[in-house]
Amino acid sequence: GRTIAVFTSGGDSQGMNSAVRSVVRMGIYLGCKVYFINEGYQGMVDGGDNIRLADWNSVSDIIQKGGTIIGSARCSDFRKPEGRLKACFNLLEREITNLVCIGGDGSLTGANQFRKDWPDLLKELVASGKITQEKADANPNIQIVGMVGSIDNDFCGTDMTIGTDSALQRIIEAIDAVVSTAQSHQRSFVVEVMGRHCGYLALVTGLAAEADFVFIPEWPPPVNWREILCTKLQQQRAEGQRLNIIIVAEGAIDRDGNPITAELVKDVVTEKLHYDTRVTVLGHVQRGGAPSAFDRLLGCRMGAEAVLALMEMTVDSLPCVISIDGNQMVRVPLMQCVERTQAVQKAMNEKNWERAVQLRGRS
Ligand code: F6P
Repeated sequence: GRTIAVFTSGGDSQGMNSAVRSVVRMGIYLGCKVYFINEGYQGMVDGGDNIRLADWNSVSDIIQKGGTIIGSARCSDFRKPEGRLKACFNLLEREITNLVCIGGDGSLTGANQFRKDWPDLLKELVASGKITQEKADANPNIQIVGMVGSIDNDFCGTDMTIGTDSALQRIIEAIDAVVSTAQSHQRSFVVEVMGRHCGYLALVTGLAAEADFVFIPEWPPPVNWREILCTKLQQQRAEGQRLNIIIVAEGAIDRDGNPITAELVKDVVTEKLHYDTRVTVLGHVQRGGAPSAFDRLLGCRMGAEAVLALMEMTVDSLPCVISIDGNQMVRVPLMQCVERTQAVQKAMNEKNWERAVQLRGRS
């Protein structure tokens, strides 16, 4: 069997534990040695107790827990060559040449860079006498498989990322709660949801929670959005609705690229319509709590497939990402996904909204 290490990186998400569990158990089942790396890339750079052997029982009783039991971090040290050199040494010390990275596109891009640098890092370690030439020759490269853990569902190449479904569950529960109080007081509520530069959570929530209006970054509203919004809210009220729900993605912008914040929307509604309006920012509640059945299964399936993919890799294999595509687990080249994800951002920066939406639409 091979020696594998698994780590979670970047913002956490519900279902990461399920993926970790699955990697550990599938790895052990196939005769591999599996290590945890605590605190993401930081633990890889710092080494020591951060890298520890996992056993079958160390992942019992975690599938139902939100977050990640092995910790996660956004790490600046790993962005520097010195940091990657330390990480390389720490892995080699334990004969780890197979990595499973659970994180967002930044974390996966980092993994790709690490693989590219590996041969040079080996040379440097040999030159400084830290490792022998034999050791370098025995471990000529590192095999990497990624899984996307993020509530944002902002990664091209997979239909769903681990955590999105649970976040949606949190959001619609919160909106249902807001609706009941809004109803009593005939209020309008502007609810801000997460998603960074991606409108997926906002859009799907809008459908699932029967919102009157949704603002997302990929499709900014027409310049006269204030009038359009107010007309729509008035119509809903005229039809007997006692409340309004407006969803604003945290990354929402107008056609000039200026932020459309929940507070701004509230001011528009208050000034133009004089409706009693409140803002609710859901924040990190969306990223917490128990993972849904969907995310638990997604983590299980992706984790198992990640180990199977590693087992088939050679030193020449390029990193891949495990994706869900039409309910099948598939392996997609990591850099292809990262490049497509970056293309969405580029289209948005260029105000090419049609292109942004088109790129987002393809899994
Ligand atoms: O990527 C997940 C996410 O929750 C985004 O939706 C949000 O913009 C960001 O992370 C918040 O980051 P932090 O947890 O560092 O405040």
